[in-house]
Amino acid sequence: MITSEIIGTGSYVPEKIVSNDDLSKIMDTNDEWIQSRSGISERRVSQGEDTSDLSVKAAIKAMEAANVVATDIDLIIVATVTPDMYTPSTACIVQKKIEAYNATAFDVSAACSGFLYGVSIANSMIKTGQHKTVLVIGAEVLSKAINWEDRATAVLFGDGAGAVIMKASENRGVKGIYTMSEGDKGENLEIGAKEVKNPFLDEKVDNSKYNYIAMNGREVFKFATKAMVTAVEKILLETKEDLCNIKCIIPHQANYRIIQYVSKKMDIPIEHFYINLDKYANTSAATIPIALDEAVRVGRIKKGDKIILVGFGGGLTYGAALIEW
Ligand code: COA
Repeated sequence: MITSEIIGTGSYVPEKIVSNDDLSKIMDTNDEWIQSRSGISERRVSQGEDTSDLSVKAAIKAMEAANVVATDIDLIIVATVTPDMYTPSTACIVQKKIEAYNATAFDVSAACSGFLYGVSIANSMIKTGQHKTVLVIGAEVLSKAINWEDRATAVLFGDGAGAVIMKASENRGVKGIYTMSEGDKGENLEIGAKEVKNPFLDEKVDNSKYNYIAMNGREVFKFATKAMVTAVEKILLETKEDLCNIKCIIPHQANYRIIQYVSKKMDIPIEHFYINLDKYANTSAATIPIALDEAVRVGRIKKGDKIILVGFGGGLTYGAALIEW
């Protein structure tokens, strides 16, 4: 059966490290609160690089690892909720910067689940034969969407990018992907866009929107724990796979307590999860590909290993993929 496999990974985070103590100098917070509530110690913050810049750096590493050149790529998908612009898409900007002139390029907006959604689209495109060599990127500059006066959200997010190259495969690779959305719960995690404003607007209509992250933390926490468990169960069912055969789980890196909950609820040792949120905080669509890249490079994932990627996020959205490496 034709499926798709990841043949190379790459990631990039900005150099600037902002610790919890650094944050406590600009807002009413402290290291103890942030660590105990989330497990985060520090995050990377852009010094001017935009989402396409981080994407390009991650993409180049993934291309090197996969041993492909830019002109081999025929599809570029960038998952992001912090694009450089409304248009062109970040994917088109990346295409220009890496000179991948043979590609179709577009963005996917599924917040922290975006990378999984991107892998799902790439997998389907490869299976139908429509595309052969796909670059999937998850990248965010969330620091430009953070309300730096809202301590409840500002401490949780960071900037970064991760990328993979996917190709057709006859045996190894993606064994199954499950994605789901619950749009009725979307208001629990929002980043507003431009408000509706035109010369013909009824002045009485309230269209005011904020263009920074706003979150109902408790509701998202409840959703996240349920969504992660559901997604893992669904993907195991779909692939007829047993949890005890899964070598490594790469979860969305939002909060250590959410991962701990899933670990206990599903009786999965916490060591089976690859966790790096202490260093980078929640980089939304980028957390899974950054963690995947790190796990591959440090030898946590080896050829033949069965792994699960699982995430949740704004939308609200969630999903999981089971991959044989
Ligand atoms: N530093 C210090 N105190 C803070 C703070 C901060 N950065 N942020 C909030 N607080 C305060 C609150 O004001 C509140 O004070 P009060 O009791 O005097 O009103 C107190 O800490 C408790 O806040 P609460 O919201 O009850 O904390 P919590 O235990 O629910 O944890 C989150 C908050 C956000 C860490 C938690 O709800 C969470 O992780 N949710 C999921 C978020 C997530 O994963 N989002 C990304 C999805 S992709």
